[in-house]
Amino acid sequence: MRHIKWMLVVVMLLALVAPAALAQDDGGAGLTIGFSQIGSESAWRTSFTDAVQAEAEARGINLLFSDAQQEQENQIAAMQAWIAQGDVDAIILAPVVVSGWDVVLEEARDAGIPVVIVDRNVDADESLYVTRVSSDFVHEGRLAAAWLVQATSGQCNIVELYGTVGSAAAEDRNDGFEEVIALFPGMQIIRSETGNFVRTEGKQVMESILSAEDPANICAVFAHNDDMAIGAVEAIKEAGLDPAEDILIVSVDAIPDIFDSLDAGDVNATVELSPFMGGPAFDAVVAHLNGEELPKWVPVAGKLYTSREAYDADH
Ligand code: AHR
Repeated sequence: MRHIKWMLVVVMLLALVAPAALAQDDGGAGLTIGFSQIGSESAWRTSFTDAVQAEAEARGINLLFSDAQQEQENQIAAMQAWIAQGDVDAIILAPVVVSGWDVVLEEARDAGIPVVIVDRNVDADESLYVTRVSSDFVHEGRLAAAWLVQATSGQCNIVELYGTVGSAAAEDRNDGFEEVIALFPGMQIIRSETGNFVRTEGKQVMESILSAEDPANICAVFAHNDDMAIGAVEAIKEAGLDPAEDILIVSVDAIPDIFDSLDAGDVNATVELSPFMGGPAFDAVVAHLNGEELPKWVPVAGKLYTSREAYDADH
C-alpha cells in the first residue's frame, strides 16, 4: 500500500513537469508559425522574406506568411485572425512602425500565443513579447556618420534620405547619425526628406532636392537604405553630376546591387543589415516553448563596407 502511495506521488509530480517533457524539436519541426511581414518595399526586405521562408522550410516549420503592404492595420488584422483561429503556435512580427501594438500583443498574450519581434522595434511593454531579433539601427547610423566624418575631415553639408516615418529603422538610424555628427560643428543635415525606403521615391526626392538646392552646397547623401541611395545615384547622374565624387553616398543594407554600385564607383559605403534573422527568431520560439528564459534582445551584427572585396572576405 505504501509503495502504491509513493508511485501515485511520483506520477503526480511527473504530470506537473510534463510541459518540460514535451520539449519541441530543436529546430521547431512541426510547429505552425505566423509571420507578419511589412511588405516588399526594398531589395533587403525581399531577401529577408526569402531567407525566413527558406529557413522555415529547411526546419519543417509550417509558416503562415502575411504581407501587410506597408499597412499596420493589415499586420494587426493578420495577427488577430491567427489568434482567433488558434491555429498558430507562435507569431513572428516585423512591425512597420514603432507604436500602436499594445492591444494586439495583449490579445496574443491572453490567447497564450508567444510573439517574437524581428527587425524593427515596438514601443510596447517588453513583457508582451518573447524577444526581439534585430540589428542595432542606432549603431548603423553611427557607423555611417563616422565614415563620413573621416571622409570629409568633419566638414560636410548632408542630405538625409529618410526611411519610413515612424519606423524604428529610420528613427534610430537618424538618432545614431545625428549623435556622431553633433560632435563636429562643420557637419550638418541641410535637408531630410522621406523616400520610404523605396528606390523610385529616393530618386524623386533627390531630384527635387537637386532642383531646390545648389548641388555645390551638397557634400553627401546619407540614405537610410541602399535602394534610396541607388535612386539618388540616378538623380545625381541625370543632373550631370558624378555620384561618389561630387556628392558622397553612404547608406545601409549591403544588398547585392549596392556592390555593383560600389564596383562602378557610384557610391562610397554601405552598412550591412543581415537578412538572416529567421534562424534566431525560430530558435527563440523553440527556446520559449521549451520553457527557457530569453534576453529581450538578440542582436544581429553588421559592419560598414567600402568594397565588395572587403564584404566577400567576411562572408
Ligand atoms: O527595417 C529595415 C529596413 O527596412 C531596411 O534597411 C530597408 O531596406 C527596409 O525597407
